[in-house]
Amino acid sequence: MDWSVLMVKGQKLLLLVVATLTVQFSITAHGSGSSGSISIAHPGCLDKCGNVSIPYPFGIGNGCFQEPFNVICNGSGAYLASTGVKVLDIDLTLGEVRVQNPRIAWQCNYTNGSSSEGGLEGLTLDPFHKVSYTQNKLTSIGCATLGYVIGITKGKNQVEYPIINSCFSFCSDASNVGDSTECSGMGCCQTSFPGNISVFNTTSVPFPDIYDSSIQSFSPCSYSFVSASDWFKFDSSYVSSTDFASKYTDGVPLVLDWVVGNGSCSEASKMGSQYACQAMNSECINVSNGPGYRCNCSQGYEGNPYLQGGCHGTHLHLHKSTYDLSFLSDLLFMESDLY
Ligand SMILES: *[C@@H]1O[C@H](CO)[C@@H](O)[C@H](O)[C@H]1NC(C)=O
Ligand SMILES: *[C@@H]1O[C@H](CO)[C@@H](O)[C@H](O)[C@H]1NC(C)=O
Ligand SMILES: *[C@@H]1O[C@H](CO)[C@@H](O)[C@H](O)[C@H]1NC(C)=O
Ligand SMILES: *[C@@H]1O[C@H](CO)[C@@H](O)[C@H](O)[C@H]1NC(C)=O
Ligand SMILES: *[C@@H]1O[C@H](CO)[C@@H](O)[C@H](O)[C@H]1NC(C)=O
Ligand SMILES: *[C@@H]1O[C@H](CO)[C@@H](O)[C@H](O)[C@H]1NC(C)=O
Ligand SMILES: *[C@@H]1O[C@H](CO)[C@@H](O)[C@H](O)[C@H]1NC(C)=O
Ligand SMILES: *[C@@H]1O[C@H](CO)[C@@H](O)[C@H](O)[C@H]1NC(C)=O
Ligand SMILES: *[C@@H]1O[C@H](CO)[C@@H](O)[C@H](O)[C@H]1NC(C)=O
Repeated sequence: MDWSVLMVKGQKLLLLVVATLTVQFSITAHGSGSSGSISIAHPGCLDKCGNVSIPYPFGIGNGCFQEPFNVICNGSGAYLASTGVKVLDIDLTLGEVRVQNPRIAWQCNYTNGSSSEGGLEGLTLDPFHKVSYTQNKLTSIGCATLGYVIGITKGKNQVEYPIINSCFSFCSDASNVGDSTECSGMGCCQTSFPGNISVFNTTSVPFPDIYDSSIQSFSPCSYSFVSASDWFKFDSSYVSSTDFASKYTDGVPLVLDWVVGNGSCSEASKMGSQYACQAMNSECINVSNGPGYRCNCSQGYEGNPYLQGGCHGTHLHLHKSTYDLSFLSDLLFMESDLY
């Protein structure tokens, strides 16, 4: 074995390792550089409020949003101007916005005769936002509690009518609930939230005839609220709690669906400059929760379909790595020449 050949091989190997690391590093640097340069906000507008991303059609201030997606950004966070609810997250691709629902309906009837109630104001969204019927549930907590939501929807000929969803929660004794973490009817019940709803009230009432002084003595209060199903975890202590609502004065997470226009895709695409899918390589999506449409970058593209030039090809990245790989095989080729 000729040691000098081995040494040359070793140096070449080292060079190859260093070269590979350098190439990998440059791929990473290019990758983050290009996605960072894709602006999601309207040009010249803020794209964040605190740690919440604000992509167009949402926007902060005049000229930065499309009606009714005005966002108020102040010291305490981001808020939908049309409703005043706090924004936790906006998802462009799914057409969802996660907000804080401050409406926890509650009612307490103590054995000493005093009683109180709250959270009955209801939530009124603008018509471009609907409460997601797939991501939320109505939850009621109590031991003879009827919880219900009354929502207003529009039927044929735009005639409004109410939709009611309800559930009943029961327990005759605190020990019935045990240390259950399941919301399954004992001390806690859940039901789905109806579709096509922008306006609703939540109510929580003790059920007459069943709600007696023995239940009242260990479970004086009941609570009902609509929240994201992935958020709520039942705890048996809630059944006897007298301060559940005051623990969540900021509200509970709620997922809203939004549309960018109220017509269907076929109507919207005839609207010229009013058509919201402004980017080349974007497409229109009909929604299932109420009338209206949203936009999506076409397959193979990503970014913001609501902005001109907003959808960028993901194939760009592929070109880069193809180039880099051929660069690597050139190196290997040079090296094999040596042996
Ligand atoms: C934003 O910050 C708050 C508190 O600082 C945190 O609870 C929340 O998870 C953050 N949200 C995101 C999207 O990072
Ligand atoms: C921020 O704006 C929201 C919505 O208008 C309001 O409820 C909240 O009190 C404001 N917070 C501050 C610190 O101004
Ligand atoms: C009745 O009991 C509740 C809970 O213990 C208490 O907060 C309230 O002040 C009492 N009311 C009266 C009139 O004693
Ligand atoms: C329970 O409290 C509510 C709200 O204060 C009151 O309207 C209702 O009459 C009370 N019910 C009973 C059975 O005491
Ligand atoms: C919403 O209403 C439309 C008709 O107005 C109906 O076709 C659709 O099924 C409803 N969606 C849901 C989730 O109820
Ligand atoms: C919700 O309650 C308010 C009063 O608190 C009432 O004016 C409104 O009509 C109710 N809305 C529905 C959908 O029941
Ligand atoms: C859609 O919105 C426009 C403008 O806001 C309004 O004039 C029209 O009546 C709406 N159409 C429906 C079906 O809600
Ligand atoms: C959207 O719905 C309209 C009317 O319901 C229909 O004509 C059109 O083909 C649908 N468009 C898409 C992209 O699904
Ligand atoms: C939107 O585009 C993404 C990426 O191409 C795709 O995964 C998603 O299914 C599309 N959504 C709809 C509703 O077509």
